[in-house]
Amino acid sequence: MTEQKTITQITEKIDGARETERQIAFMEKAAGYVQELSEKLGRKPTCCVVTFGCQMNARDSEKLSGILEKVGYELVEREEADFVIYNTCTVRDNANQRVYGRLGYLNGLKKKNPHMKIALCGCMMQEPAVIEKIRKSYRFVDLIFGTHNIYKFAELLTAMFESDGMIVDIWKDTDQIVEDLPVERKYPFKSGINIMFGCNNFCSYCIVPYVRGRERSRNPKDIIREIEKLSGDGVKEIMLLGQNVNSYGKNLDMPITFAQLLREVEKIDGIERIRFMTSHPKDLSDELIQVMKESKKICRHLHLPLQSGSTEILTKMNRRYTKEQYLALVEKIRREIPDMAITTDIIVGFPGETRADVDETIDVINKVQYDNAFTFIYSKRSGTPAAAMEQVPEEEVKENFARVLETVQQTAKKRAALLQGQTHSALVEDVNDQDPELLTGRLSNNMIVHFKGEKDLIGQIVPVCLKECHGFYYLGERV
Ligand code: SAH
Ligand code: SF4
Ligand code: F3S
Repeated sequence: MTEQKTITQITEKIDGARETERQIAFMEKAAGYVQELSEKLGRKPTCCVVTFGCQMNARDSEKLSGILEKVGYELVEREEADFVIYNTCTVRDNANQRVYGRLGYLNGLKKKNPHMKIALCGCMMQEPAVIEKIRKSYRFVDLIFGTHNIYKFAELLTAMFESDGMIVDIWKDTDQIVEDLPVERKYPFKSGINIMFGCNNFCSYCIVPYVRGRERSRNPKDIIREIEKLSGDGVKEIMLLGQNVNSYGKNLDMPITFAQLLREVEKIDGIERIRFMTSHPKDLSDELIQVMKESKKICRHLHLPLQSGSTEILTKMNRRYTKEQYLALVEKIRREIPDMAITTDIIVGFPGETRADVDETIDVINKVQYDNAFTFIYSKRSGTPAAAMEQVPEEEVKENFARVLETVQQTAKKRAALLQGQTHSALVEDVNDQDPELLTGRLSNNMIVHFKGEKDLIGQIVPVCLKECHGFYYLGERV
C-alpha cells in the first residue's frame, strides 16, 4: 500500500524574490535526481505535459515545461514517457470526465514502465471532491498540486523523487505572484503573458473564481520586462492573459488601467501584434476603445463573451449587464473600429432558461453578426450558486443548442465572406497538417488562411491575398 502524504493545505505567506531563489536551488537538486535516473535508463528521461482547458492553463504548462527542461528531461508529445503531467480544467464536467478516462490509460502505461511517474495539476485539483476520488481510486498517481502553488513545481518534483507515496499539495488561495522562473515556449514567435490571475466576478454558473482564487494583477514593470525579453528572443505576437483583463490594475498599490498598460506595451520595439483575452463587457471602457482605435499593433479581434441575450438570464448569471447595454457597447466599438472582428462565448441551458430567452440570444447573434462564437451547453458545477437552481430538461437544451449553433454558423460564414479578394498580413504559424505544400497563417482578426509557401516563412508576417472562402478559413496567395 502506498503512503499518502499531504505537505500543506493552507495559504502560505511567501516572499516573491526569495522564493525564486529557493526554487532555483530545488531545480539543481531535482536535476541531480534526473541525472541519476538517466544513468539508470542509459538515456535522457522523457516527459510529456498534457494541457486541458484555456490559454491560462496553456501558459502554466509552458512554465512547467521550462522547469522540466531545465532539470534535464527531454520534452515529448507522446504519453509513453517517463513522466506524464496532466494540467487539468474543470470549467465543464466533460473536461473532468476526459481526465478520469485517460488516467486509466496512463495506469496501463505505468504498469509497463516501472520508472514512470504521473502528476496531476491545474484547476480540477482545486476541488476537494476530486482529490478524494483520486486518493481512493487512482492510487498510482505520484504527485498532485493545484493552481496556487505551481511556482514551487521544482520543490514538489524533488519531493516526488524522495518519496514512494502519493504527494498532495493543494492551497486554498494565495495573494502572491512569483516572478522569473524558467519558461519553455511552444512557439518561438508568439507567446502568452499573464497580466493577472484569478477572478472576482463570481458569475453564478462558473467555477473559475473557486479554483483560481481572488483577482491579482501583476506589477506593470514585471509585465513590460517580460515582454521586452520575449521581443529580444524574437517574439512578434503576444497575448495578454487574464480572466477579465478589463479590470487589470485596480488592486495594485499604484493602480493603472488596462488601457494604460496597453499604451506601454505598444511602445516595445519588435512586438508587432498585441492580443488579449478575455474582456468582460461590464468593464470595457471608452479609454480602451480609444487605445485600440489608435493602436498600430492591437489586433482587430475582440473576444466579448455574451453568455446570454436575455436580460433576465444575465441577471441570474450575475453578469452585471443587460441585453441593451451589451448591444450598445458593440455598436460603439463597431462605430469607432469598423474592421474589428468580434467573437463570443454563449451558454445554452442555464437554469430557468426558456425558449423565449434563447430567442433573445439568437436576436443578439443576428444583430451583432459575430465572426465566431463558442457555444457551450450549461454544465452544473457543484458549489456554484446556479447548481442549486432548477435545471432545464436535457431535450429542451439540445433543441435550443442546435438553434443557437445554426445562427452562429450563419453569421460567421457571412462575416468571413466579406474578406474575399482582400489582402491582409498573416503571421505564418505552421506547415498545414493535411497538405505539406501549404502554410497556415493567422490574420489580425484571427481568421486562418492557408497558402503555398516555404517553411522558412514560419514566424514571419507576410501579405496574403484571400482568394477562396471556406467558411471558417481562406485559401490564399502570397502577394
Ligand atoms: N473569464 C472568461 C471566461 C472563462 S471560462 C469570461 O468571463 O469571459 C470560458 C467560457 O466557458 C465562459 O465564457 C463560458 O461561456 C463557459 N463556461 C463557464 N462556466 C460554464 C458552465 N458551468 N457551463 C458551461 N459553460 C461554461
Ligand atoms: Fe467565470 Fe465570470 Fe470570472 Fe469569467 S468573469 S472566469 S465567466 S466568473
Ligand atoms: Fe479551465 Fe481553469 Fe481555464 S477551469 S477554462 S483551465 S481557468
